[in-house]
Amino acid sequence: MVIERICEPKELEVEKIDAEVSKNENILRPKTFDDYIGQDRLKRNLKLAITAAKKRGEPIEHVLLYGPPGLGKTTMAGVIANEMGAEIKITSGPAIERAGDLASLLTNLADGDVLFIDEIHRLNRAVEEILYSAMEDAKLDIMIGKGPAARSVRLDLPRITVIGATTRTGALAAPLRDRFGLVHRLEFYREEEIARIIERSAKILSSEIDSAAAEMLSTRSRLTPRIANRLLKRVRDFADVKGDGKIDAEITLAALGVLEIDELGLDAADRNMLELMLRNYQDRPVGVATIAALTGDEVSTIEDFYEPYLLQIGLLERTPRGRIATHKAKKHLEKHGKEI
Ligand code: ADE
Repeated sequence: MVIERICEPKELEVEKIDAEVSKNENILRPKTFDDYIGQDRLKRNLKLAITAAKKRGEPIEHVLLYGPPGLGKTTMAGVIANEMGAEIKITSGPAIERAGDLASLLTNLADGDVLFIDEIHRLNRAVEEILYSAMEDAKLDIMIGKGPAARSVRLDLPRITVIGATTRTGALAAPLRDRFGLVHRLEFYREEEIARIIERSAKILSSEIDSAAAEMLSTRSRLTPRIANRLLKRVRDFADVKGDGKIDAEITLAALGVLEIDELGLDAADRNMLELMLRNYQDRPVGVATIAALTGDEVSTIEDFYEPYLLQIGLLERTPRGRIATHKAKKHLEKHGKEI
């Protein structure tokens, strides 16, 4: 059985974002704190830091944003840069392969610029070393020559703000983590916030959506704006083809049925994973590597994409000995016709 996932593994995700950026992902992204819905605590802290930095005429301290994918880390980095009146350059941990790649990136920045590094936990050690002195002292330490004639040279860099994003702070080397003055976790959104995001996005896309449909979509978007916006676009396609373009509860329900997304926002892949866990382990804990082997996924896909939401809504529990699919998960699957 081939199960199409609503949350693809990271590699696909990155491609998808890039493909959509050129279309309309960009126009849906808020540019200011006022337009950014949710994450109120984070916004309060960042506003304060930005106001203080502006008053002193300095860039703000380096910021580390962590949390599950799709909650708006890149979007928030864009908002920070915009509110600072700064340019933002975007890269990612795996894209910076050698120390020289980072050195050339850094030497091309201007005073006050923001360097956003997505998946910063995937930087390699040699690159991290260069980043330390760039972040701490605005210096670039490079080696010239090889062998006994090799010598180290220290160059001045512009004063920049590094914004790092990661799905896990635990995977970040402690010396790197310590160089961020502001470290914040992005939380799952509340359903009302997701509904407001959907209504805002629909307006930008010139799509008519009623409040019942927005509410229905908000309960099925895994409390995640990226998924909400993606579902909105799929439902909009459905409404354009099967109806008159207006998005109401009936059209939304039909589109979600085709996508096999249930009332908790789970797709066939989530239900399959929970079913395999319950069938094979009942209420006993099972290691994440075993779950990955059962579903045919990477461990990181399970950890980064599936678990956070399933834990949040109480369908999974994490114990020192592994994950347990809960009684609530069993009830949910039974409701969807599975006999466990
Ligand atoms: N689009 C994606 N995330 C958003 C957010 N947090 N607020 C408003 N629009 C968004």
